[in-house]
Amino acid sequence: MIPLSIPELSGKEINYIKECLDSGWVSSTGPYVKLFEERFKEYVGAKFAVAAINGTSALHLALKCAGIGEGDEVIVPSLTFAATVNAIKYLGAEPVFADVSKDTYVLDPNNIEELIGQKTKAILPVHLYGQPVEMDRILEIAGKFGLKVIEDAAQSLGSKYKGKYTGTIGNIGCFSFNGNKLITTGSGGMLVTDDEKIVEYALYLSTQAKDPNYKGLFYHSEVGYNYRMSNINAAMGLAQLEDIERRIQIKNRISGIYDKNLKDIDNIVLPVKKPYCETTFWLYPILVEEGYPLNKLRLMEKLFEFGVETRSFFMPLHLMKPYKHHKHGMMGITEHVSNHGINLPSSIGICEEDLIRICKVLGTV
Ligand SMILES: Cc1ncc(COP(=O)(O)O)c(C=O)c1O
Repeated sequence: MIPLSIPELSGKEINYIKECLDSGWVSSTGPYVKLFEERFKEYVGAKFAVAAINGTSALHLALKCAGIGEGDEVIVPSLTFAATVNAIKYLGAEPVFADVSKDTYVLDPNNIEELIGQKTKAILPVHLYGQPVEMDRILEIAGKFGLKVIEDAAQSLGSKYKGKYTGTIGNIGCFSFNGNKLITTGSGGMLVTDDEKIVEYALYLSTQAKDPNYKGLFYHSEVGYNYRMSNINAAMGLAQLEDIERRIQIKNRISGIYDKNLKDIDNIVLPVKKPYCETTFWLYPILVEEGYPLNKLRLMEKLFEFGVETRSFFMPLHLMKPYKHHKHGMMGITEHVSNHGINLPSSIGICEEDLIRICKVLGTV
């Protein structure tokens, strides 16, 4: 079976993790947490970073630090992983779903303004599958209406928009290091920002809101969370981060092979790369359009018979029970893309022959 996306180990993980075990620093107070944060923020070019137990908790912290609370509205795409929207709902805030763009499948800035009202407090763009959102336009709208911008860069580590890493363009950016991501800590996430107040608040909230003014005592001045990454996870993250450039190069080679070998297949739509972006596709996305001999689900079954694991695009959240009562704009592109989109295998360890084999199956059904 050719898997969709499996973790890649650099070899150093075991040494760093052994150091944690030998030293006894296994929880979140260990030195690897700070080191991983330092290196990560340097890598993406942010002033501050806070490592969290997963990407969802990083998003939850980010929204809370941005001042989002009960009854506030946050504009978000419906075509995303549920974690993005759940983080909004944890705070009693309301997601407002906006449609995505036809060629990139990410939040379309043209659909945002009509959804902005008195209660709107933030925009939460998601760089889906590694594809950068049009951040200049998002920032322009946010500036016009006084909104915060929190980027969900869980899937887009390594992608740049106009020379800046995704996740570093808005007020706060959040990453995930889940097992199938570009780099993994097993489970983990990171919040990045240039705002010192936000980073201080995020650190405090993620350590049960233990008040630093009561040195040595356990005084909690509000309800906090246990969201800090452990030293063991951070040790793994550091080893993975040291290998990131090689991984990005391989990801680009993978998408280049798919681009070249799938481009002449009728009714298979390939992802667009904007000339001003450096897009690192986390999972290579294609659309299986009308006119292709099989519909998306039949193609996925066919590929499975040939030993190829694929993944359907996310189902639009605005159609699901926990989210369908929330406001949304037109959702035509979201629904079309979701109905026709699949992701092809994109593991760092995948070999060229396997990629060619996948393309041949797609070209001969
Ligand atoms: C777009 C998006 N946002 C948020 C998350 C949440 O990250 P985690 O699984 O680390 O909590 C994910 C995870 O895959 C994701 O894909």
